[in-house]
Amino acid sequence: MSVQIPRPREHAPSIGDTRLLIDGQRIDALSGGTFATVDPSTGAELAQVAEGRSEDIDRAVQAARRAFESGPWPRIKPNERARILHRLGDLILEHRDELAGLEALDNGKTFATARAYDITGAAELFHYMAGWVTKLEGTTIPISFPGNFHTYTRREPVGVCGLIVPWNYPFGQSAWKVAPALACGNTAVLKPAEQTPLSALRLGELALEAGVPEGVLNVVPGFGGEAGAALVAHDDVAKIAFTGSTETGRAIVRGATGNVKKVSIELGGKSPNIVFADADLPTAIAGAAAGIFFNQGEVCTAGSRLYVQEAVYDDVVAGVADAAKALRIGDGFDPATDVGPLISGAHRDVVRGYVEAGVAAGAELVAGGEPVGDAGYFLSPAVFADARPEMSIVREEIFGPVVSVIPFRDVDDVVAAANDSPFGLAAGVWTEDVGKAHRMAAALEAGTVWVNCYGVFDAAMPFGGTKQSGWGKEMGHAVLEDYTEAKTVCVDIGPAHPAR
Ligand code: NAI
Ligand code: MG
Repeated sequence: MSVQIPRPREHAPSIGDTRLLIDGQRIDALSGGTFATVDPSTGAELAQVAEGRSEDIDRAVQAARRAFESGPWPRIKPNERARILHRLGDLILEHRDELAGLEALDNGKTFATARAYDITGAAELFHYMAGWVTKLEGTTIPISFPGNFHTYTRREPVGVCGLIVPWNYPFGQSAWKVAPALACGNTAVLKPAEQTPLSALRLGELALEAGVPEGVLNVVPGFGGEAGAALVAHDDVAKIAFTGSTETGRAIVRGATGNVKKVSIELGGKSPNIVFADADLPTAIAGAAAGIFFNQGEVCTAGSRLYVQEAVYDDVVAGVADAAKALRIGDGFDPATDVGPLISGAHRDVVRGYVEAGVAAGAELVAGGEPVGDAGYFLSPAVFADARPEMSIVREEIFGPVVSVIPFRDVDDVVAAANDSPFGLAAGVWTEDVGKAHRMAAALEAGTVWVNCYGVFDAAMPFGGTKQSGWGKEMGHAVLEDYTEAKTVCVDIGPAHPAR
């Protein structure tokens, strides 16, 4: 089977400037070095991008530090900072086609989903966070210490934030971090993933166009072990926000100890999606398939462990396998495409390795798992039946379109199985029994539980993991805690008035 690449690709934008963005200027890396970013649908090079290294990170951090210490951003009136972030949200919407096109080119995901979810969601988040700028209030605190005091808190920005994002949602993940960082009055250095640097650079340009002052948002593409590690270790960085693998998350926690910077980490997942026999089955089957195959399965919350109650097990396996076979694999710019390529040849090999391990361990491969086409990194969506708890396909994050379907008997049985994981990012429950739905929501070890839906994200919903899926929340007002510091002020105001 070959994969058709439409020529010309409607909506494919021009790549633009691929140099670093530091202090409002587009500049080459100090070393002059560049690296290739690749189109995963063809394997062809899209562009050479300036490769930021530790000395470039240092320049960017110094620019962000100056912007924080003496620039207007932390000092301007909240309504003005809010207006600028609203303008940035508007600009993202105005450039929605271009940004969705960059995502489809650089990541391989479909233009349609990038446009509808990634880019639109990012714009929504900037508007939502713009709304918080004027509401970052402290508290007044009645204290019991002998004497008479006026005690209150101020919510202050933390300083320079290092923002490190992965390749599966290059623009969306950048927005998840940049929007709250800037709303709270911080300045930032954003390091996109080496596989997908293009849309983050464009975000930096649009921020300048919206009126974000120079130096407030710097964008430095580069490799994790060099640019990323330099950002994490930098003594003038006050906070790191990271999304990516649990292994790299551990390295980041270790690397941040020098100046004991604040760290928030969104890591991997192996999320259970649970179908009870009393569920609306057609809806549950469609939701289970979308829960794993959306975005090629390259989603931290992918519902990769599908637990199905015994009475409906065979029906759900057959339904999800049919759904997998019906998905159209192809170029992300083709409107008929449901599933694009994986991010790289190396990553497809990893995913294929899991498929082979599942077969070798005795699970039944009932659909997919095969490379597709002779160019690009396509893989057909895979469904395993009769997977057992000890298998690597059940225990480890695959980060691809591979689901393991596992039977269960009753609530106790499935809660124990679902929670038997080092991860705790998300979970799904499909049932028509409202009491059971809420009992399950309480019992599951996960940062988010979706009931009769899956993969719903919103600017107002806090998102984050428990256990080894990470620390901290993104989005919602919960994220503001991570990007501000509460300063306590205690003032002795002299003897109390007798009347009080
Ligand atoms: P990764 O976690 O290593 O990379 C994510 C980001 O961290 C990139 O920007 C990278 O340059 C940076 N990075 C890497 N090493 C770093 C270091 N030592 N210090 C600072 N920054 C560093 O993920 P990678 O290698 O792209 O993918 C490997 C696996 O990780 C995937 O197969 C998948 O299982 C998982 N993953 C999970 C994600 C999630 O959202 N949960 C996102 C991306 C990958
Ligand atoms: Mg790329």
